[in-house]
Amino acid sequence: MAHSAKAFLGPVIHSLSTSNLELLPCALLVVNSEGKIASFLRNVDPHQAQDTLRALNFSPDLVTIHRLGPGQFLIPGFVDTHNHAPQWAQRGLGQGMHILDWLDAITFPNEARFRDPDYARRIYASCVDGFLRQGITTASYYGSIHGEATKILADLCLEKGQRALVGKCNMTRNAPEYYRDASVEESLRVTEECITHIRSLDPAGKLVQHVLTPRFAISCDAETLQGLGNIARNNPDLPIQTHFNEAEQEMTATMELFPQFTNEADLYEHYGLLGKRSILAHCCYMSEYEMKRLKTLGCGVAHCPISNMTVGGGFMAAPIRDFMRRGIKVGLGTDSGGGFSSSILDAMRQAMIASHAREVTSKGQDKGLSIDEVFHLATLGGAQVCGLDDKIGSFDVGKEFDAALVGTRGGEQGIMTIVEQDDSLKTVFEKFVMTGDDRNIVEVYVQGRRVKGN
Ligand code: GUN
Ligand code: FE
Repeated sequence: MAHSAKAFLGPVIHSLSTSNLELLPCALLVVNSEGKIASFLRNVDPHQAQDTLRALNFSPDLVTIHRLGPGQFLIPGFVDTHNHAPQWAQRGLGQGMHILDWLDAITFPNEARFRDPDYARRIYASCVDGFLRQGITTASYYGSIHGEATKILADLCLEKGQRALVGKCNMTRNAPEYYRDASVEESLRVTEECITHIRSLDPAGKLVQHVLTPRFAISCDAETLQGLGNIARNNPDLPIQTHFNEAEQEMTATMELFPQFTNEADLYEHYGLLGKRSILAHCCYMSEYEMKRLKTLGCGVAHCPISNMTVGGGFMAAPIRDFMRRGIKVGLGTDSGGGFSSSILDAMRQAMIASHAREVTSKGQDKGLSIDEVFHLATLGGAQVCGLDDKIGSFDVGKEFDAALVGTRGGEQGIMTIVEQDDSLKTVFEKFVMTGDDRNIVEVYVQGRRVKGN
């Protein structure tokens, strides 16, 4: 979709790596009509913006300059590497339950409702709007088992302008009859149908892609996993997502179902589901062996610090520092509805809290995460996990412009952040991360298109 070129002038904050947060008090960022970053000047004189544009060969008449207001700054859009769209209406239910009990009692009855396309359309529209409102410009969604509802979710992401991975969820066993694929063949057939639909919607795969989504090995027969592995092999563009070493109850049940394996890494690798495109949610309990396999195979971790502590029975601070030390890709997932919140800011804060607990239980070996580090997980780290870091996650020239314009002043708009005149940009940023919410997200852009704000 073509838009007119636009230039943003003012403070810009983005992550270049886990240890390098760039804070620029006055940058000029030019977005071209295709929604790509055409130019990024890190330090400009605000009074010379027109001349600077001219020097870059942009005609100031054709470029609208958006001057950021006091207390505002630009950040890359947030990436939610793991959430369940059909759990949107059940967020917050079943706190403290163990995973298999929670799935049976709360989740399967809710997800089964998505057999009704009208219900799916209503809840999914609210879900996509809800994520965009929080500045989540990219989401990796688990759908329900239903083909039609999954296509509706993909349609809505494209229509509303959210970048997304959307997956038809595969479940062929260990689920109630009312919420289970009719057969392995049917499960794979509907998956192929969704892949074809999403490709036809968005042929260049620019905004929405299908993601292969075996829920977890417990709900998939070996033939289902093998069939999905075959689809993955034949379609090297498709990402893959599943739940991995989330909780003891889940890990024990998995090993009972697949006694030929001694760990989940070997299991999923055997079926062709582990590689650079794999997004593994939770990874709470990791042996040295599995850590090494994830690193060697290039898998990404979707860290879900809220649900890890509230639903599922992991109740565990995952070894994020250890993943980072080994160079394993890590991003953040809201895992809503297991996670009660669909806010990445909440996930960032909980990631810090969990990491501080981990620092104590690891006797200081796994140092807690800093604000800069959790911001990296929520932006560039998430983009890496989703295989999108060549396109998004930071403001490099040539990347697509997915961004949130953050406001930190405006008590009358209900903004809770309290900034003072002499606060440095770093201080304002930290106050936003620790006390902000969706009211601070003034405008949101995906591929240069404004999807929130006016
Ligand atoms: N494992 C399998 N399905 C789910 C789910 O919906 N949520 C969580 N947290 N874990 C799962
Ligand atoms: Fe999940």
